[in-house]
Amino acid sequence: MNREKIGIIGSGLIGRSWSMLFAAADFDVEMYDIDEKQLQGAMAEVRTQLAELERLGLLRGKLSAEQQFSNIRTTSEFEDCVRGAFYVQECVPENIELKNAVHTRADAVMSDTCILASSTSALLPSRLAADIKHKNRFIVAHPTNPPFYAPLVELVPSPWTDSDVVPSTKALMEKIGQVPVVLKKEIEGFVLNRIQYSIMREGWGLIKDGIVDVDGIDKVMSAGLGRRYAFMGPFETAHLNADGMKNYADRYATMIEGVMSTLKSNDRFGGPVLEQIRTELEARIPLCDLQERRQWRDRRLAALTQLNQRIDAEDAK
Ligand SMILES: NC(=O)c1ccc[n+]([C@@H]2O[C@H](COP(=O)([O-])OP(=O)(O)OC[C@H]3O[C@@H](n4cnc5c(N)ncnc54)[C@H](O)[C@@H]3O)[C@@H](O)[C@H]2O)c1
Repeated sequence: MNREKIGIIGSGLIGRSWSMLFAAADFDVEMYDIDEKQLQGAMAEVRTQLAELERLGLLRGKLSAEQQFSNIRTTSEFEDCVRGAFYVQECVPENIELKNAVHTRADAVMSDTCILASSTSALLPSRLAADIKHKNRFIVAHPTNPPFYAPLVELVPSPWTDSDVVPSTKALMEKIGQVPVVLKKEIEGFVLNRIQYSIMREGWGLIKDGIVDVDGIDKVMSAGLGRRYAFMGPFETAHLNADGMKNYADRYATMIEGVMSTLKSNDRFGGPVLEQIRTELEARIPLCDLQERRQWRDRRLAALTQLNQRIDAEDAK
């Protein structure tokens, strides 16, 4: 086989998604997991998901679902997964000791040019690979869940990441159809979770102060802000909502600064407010209906992807 090899360490929710994305771009994917049953489950699910994407017309790349599936193989030998790979994506649980142990093990086998990327949701790259020989080849590539429908990948280098690693990883992400955003330096929570948590913090405070209920906050996002955020961000929104960003500031700066000065402050993520949010959510979506609701969500994510693809194709004509 002459194609470039990608190693995937961990075959849970995120590892199996990465394997599909790389397989669609015709890479030779080798996936390892400490648990053989997880690997078998991952392969069965990848096959089902690829067939479903093919049925919906949402497969990426030019290969059929079966051809993409045949690009993925599994191994129960850690070293086999890493050896010969030009890029390794670590997808083990969010535990710093576990991740450090996995990186140390990969360090011993990876080539000097290989890139070792972690899927971590929040751990700083400088803490994940401080002591390995190849720490200059390490980067965080944090996907969004579900990666197939939410293509953002945050790329976070550490202070000692080689200068070629960021552009190479960015190019790789673009090649497989993901949307990379590069952070110039590391910060807790990266960008996506910082923004997500700032929305949650404000919603939390508004609920706590009796201004709105959980359903109200969720509707403000799903029927209001989220409609635009599905295809454009807050700054472009502002730019379009006036005659450009400068005019937006001329018109609204005083009002915005006034509201910003009253934004809710940090609170404990627990106690009576959590109880209120939990109770309201479980009345609306009982825990026994979560799976059905996830399917409801995924149908909409698939339809949104189809819509964006159709309009992008029309715009390109
Ligand atoms: N789930 C999400 O929404 C999401 C989104 C973005 C990033 N992430 C990050 O991705 C990473 C993986 O998350 P996940 O949701 O796929 O977790 P998961 O629990 O679904 O899967 C983890 C897998 O790692 C395997 N594993 C455990 N120890 C191992 C080892 N030593 N070597 C090899 N495999 C091992 C487990 O058997 C399991 O299959 C985490 O760092 C998480 O924070 C998760």
